Amino acid sequence: MATTIAHAPSKVILFGEHAVVYGRPAVALPVLDLQATAVVEDTDAGAGITIIAEDLNRTFNLFDVPRDDPLRVIVSATLGRLGVGMRIDLKITVSSSIPIARGLGSGAAVSTAIARALGEHLGQWLTSRALSDLVFEVEKIHHGTPSGIDNTVIAFEKPVYFIKDKTRDVFWVREPFRLVIGDTGVASSTRIAVGDVRAAWERNRERYDEIFDEIGTLAQMGREAIEVGAVETIGRLMDANQKLLRLLDVSSPELEGLIEAAKQGGALGAKLVGAGRGGNMAAVVTEETAGQVSMMLRLAGAKNVIVTEVR
Ligand code: MEV
Repeated sequence: MATTIAHAPSKVILFGEHAVVYGRPAVALPVLDLQATAVVEDTDAGAGITIIAEDLNRTFNLFDVPRDDPLRVIVSATLGRLGVGMRIDLKITVSSSIPIARGLGSGAAVSTAIARALGEHLGQWLTSRALSDLVFEVEKIHHGTPSGIDNTVIAFEKPVYFIKDKTRDVFWVREPFRLVIGDTGVASSTRIAVGDVRAAWERNRERYDEIFDEIGTLAQMGREAIEVGAVETIGRLMDANQKLLRLLDVSSPELEGLIEAAKQGGALGAKLVGAGRGGNMAAVVTEETAGQVSMMLRLAGAKNVIVTEVR
C-alpha cells in the first residue's frame, strides 16, 4: 500500500513577537534541525482515518475526537481543500523532535507536515501559501488572535519579514550566522501570554503602542542587518528587543538566567523567542563563541541546547 512521508521545520522569531499581533513587523527564521514528520498510508477499506500521535502515545479515529481537536481540524481542512471527502481510509502517523509549548512552533509544524503529506499522498501539490493558510486555521484554535507568522515561516521554510494581513516577504541571508537556542524546560501557553499582553494593552494603549512601535522598528532594522550580513548589529538589536519584551512582562527568571549566561559566554545578543514566560531563548554567536555559549547555557540549567546555522 502507498506510503508518503513529509516534514516541516521548527521556527524562531528573531524580532517582533507580540508586537506582530498588533500589526507591527516581525522577522522569523525556520530551524531545520528540529522537525515534525507525518507519514500517510493507505489502510483497509472502511477503516476510516486513524491518527497515531507517537509522541503523545495516542491512537484514535479522527471522528472520535472533538471537532476542534487540532489534528482533526488540519486533516479535515486539508481534505476539504484537496476536494476529497472525509470518507477515505488512511493511517496518519505523526512524530516530532520539536518540544511542545516552548515557542518553537511545534503545533504549526505538526499541522504543516500533515497537510503536506496528505497533499502529496493524494497526488496534489499544495503551495507554501496554501499550506500556510490551512495551518492558520489550526493556529486560531491554539490562541484566538494569531498573527499568522508561525504558520508562514514554517510553511515557507525560509526567513520571513512579516506584517499581519499585509506582508510576507521571504528574504535572503547575506552571511550565514549561528544561533544557540536554549530551552528553559518550562512549558508556556501562547494563549495565556498573548491574552495577558492584550489585557495590559487594553489598560494602557498609549504606552503599549509605543513599545510595539519600537519593537517594529527593531524588526525592520533586524531584517536590514541580516540582509547586509551585519551579525554584531543583529546581536545588539536582539538585546534591545529583549528589553522591550521585559516591559511587556513576557520574560521570566528562567529566561533571564539563560540570557545572562549566554551573554557571559560571549554571545553578541540574546532574547526570548516566541510567546515567552518560559520556552526557549536564542543567542547570536560566532563560530568561536558557539561552544562556550552552549556550555554556559547548560551550566545555567538549560534543558536542551542546539546550535543552528541561519542561511
Ligand atoms: C508566537 O510564536 C508569537 C506571538 O507573537 C503570537 C503570534 O504572533 O501569533 C507571541
